[in-house]
Amino acid sequence: MKYAVLATWKMAEEGTKKAAKLLAEGKDCGEAVIEGIAMVEDNPAFHSVGYGGRPNAEGRVFLDGGFMNGDTLHFGAVGSVEGFRSAVRIAASLQDGDANNFLVGEGAERYAEAHGFERRDNVTAETLELYEKEKERLKELSAYDGHDTVCFLALDQSGSLCAATSTSGLFMKQPGRIGDTPLPGVGYYADSKIGAAAATGMGEEIMKGALSYAAVRFLKDGLSAQEAAEKAVSELNDTLVERNGYANPMSLIVLAKDGSYGIGTNITFTYCYASDEEEATVHEIIVERE
Ligand code: GLY
Repeated sequence: MKYAVLATWKMAEEGTKKAAKLLAEGKDCGEAVIEGIAMVEDNPAFHSVGYGGRPNAEGRVFLDGGFMNGDTLHFGAVGSVEGFRSAVRIAASLQDGDANNFLVGEGAERYAEAHGFERRDNVTAETLELYEKEKERLKELSAYDGHDTVCFLALDQSGSLCAATSTSGLFMKQPGRIGDTPLPGVGYYADSKIGAAAATGMGEEIMKGALSYAAVRFLKDGLSAQEAAEKAVSELNDTLVERNGYANPMSLIVLAKDGSYGIGTNITFTYCYASDEEEATVHEIIVERE
C-alpha cells in the first residue's frame, strides 16, 4: 500500500477525503492529519471539537490537541486553550526542540498569540443554548454524553507515519481539566518503524492504560493492527471491570506501517479509512453494552 489514512467517527469523513487527496499528491503525513482535523475543527455541526465545541462547567470552550511525528518521535501538544481556531495547528508547531513541547492554559495561549495563530471565539449560539439548558442538572449529567474526539493517523508515500488529535473535551468538564487527547502515548502515538494509534472516549479511563502506546507495543511484538487494537482495549476494559465493576467508553484506531488497520472499542463506534486501494469510507462497529 502506498498511503493510508484512518480517523475516528463519521464526522471525519470530509477530512479523510481531504487527507487522502493530499497523500495521493505526495504530501507528507503531517500535512494530511493536520488538514484533515482542521476541517472538523472548523465545522460547528460537530459539537465536541473546535468551533461550536462542548462547553465546560462555566459555559466556556477550552481545546486540547496533540501531534506526533513517527520519524523523529517528536510531539507537540496543547491543553486547555481558549479563543483560538485550531488546537491541532498550535500543537503541531510545538514539535521541534527537546523542551517546551507541551503547553497548557495561559502559557499555551500566550505562545499561540506570539506565533500568530488565528484567534476565534469557539462558543456558538448553540453552545450557549446547550449550556443554559443543561447547567441546572449538572450533577445528573454523564460527562461522556455526546463526546467524540477527532483523531487522524496517516501513512504517506515515503513510509512516514503521523498521529494527530483535537477535542473540546468532556461536556461540562471542570475548569482546568485536561483529558487524554493531548497526552502522547495516551491519546495518540506514532512510530514510523512500527505503526500509529489514537484514542477517543472517556479520557480518564484511557489514561489508566496508556492505550495508544500499549497498542503500538503490541504491534512491535508482532500482532496485526486488528489484534493490537482489540488487545489494548479488551485488556484495559477487563482490568477496569475487574477492579471497579465497570469500564467507561473507549475506542482505539491503529494503523500499521504497511497501511493495514485495526479497531478496538467497547462501544458502538464509527471510523473512516482511505488508502490508494480504497476510497474514503465510513464504517461502523456495533457493540451492545450491558
Ligand atoms: N477523550 C477526550 C477527553 O476525555 O477529553
